[in-house]
Amino acid sequence: MSVEIKIVPDNPALNQMAAQEFQRMAESAITQRGRFSVALSGGNTPRGVYSLLAEEYKTAIPWEKVHIFFGDERHVPPDHPDSNFRMAYESLLSRVPMPPANIHRVRAELDAKAAADDYEDQLRTFFRLAAQAWPVFDLIFLGLGDDGHTASLFPGSAALNEASRLVAANWVEKFQSFRITVTFPVLNHGSQVLFLVSGAGKSQILSQVLRPGGNQYPAQRVRPVNGRLLWLVDQDAGKLLGPENSTIF
Ligand code: 6PG
Repeated sequence: MSVEIKIVPDNPALNQMAAQEFQRMAESAITQRGRFSVALSGGNTPRGVYSLLAEEYKTAIPWEKVHIFFGDERHVPPDHPDSNFRMAYESLLSRVPMPPANIHRVRAELDAKAAADDYEDQLRTFFRLAAQAWPVFDLIFLGLGDDGHTASLFPGSAALNEASRLVAANWVEKFQSFRITVTFPVLNHGSQVLFLVSGAGKSQILSQVLRPGGNQYPAQRVRPVNGRLLWLVDQDAGKLLGPENSTIF
């Protein structure tokens, strides 16, 4: 596994670099395999990247060959303000010429366990997986929570220990609600895993998570088996990182 940390000046630069990475990986996957599978992250940080893709890459990417998945989803209907699908739909998916069949949504309006089972079935079908096989996403976007969570793999939650399922219904105590999340084996079989971290509020947790050899935080357990791990960070978030472990752009 190769780990890269790229620090860019500010949030607009982070959005630009993430969008360029998305396009580059899409072109590579489509050239090699005729399609590009990407798992989107939720929350606030990626919204700017998704909007930029819609505004500046609408004609630069063959969206009919792009397949959109989600690394996690809140246990709410797709039209709920907290829905990661709704955020991605409003910022990107409704603004590019993407066939609806290419949007693989977590059906989080179902009972949480049923939603996880359904999404696991969707992954197995799309990736044509044998019983013990793992999906290999071409790109997985991830964010970093200030408690060190990523996707919906929260500290102390049961899904942290899930080693055989692709998707888990994960009870998150601090929210008193379920989340539906892919598991670490899925994240760690990704071909390219790209963390997007922005803002001074993340500087403390980012410096702790990127400390070599750490294992305390869920985000530290994202170690792609064969893939590339890139931390794309703006200067505010990266202000506590030493010069030795980052490339300034
Ligand atoms: C979610 C995300 C979650 C997010 C982090 C960071 O469903 O909220 O998948 O893992 O990436 O919480 O969120 P921000 O980008 O909003 O800080």
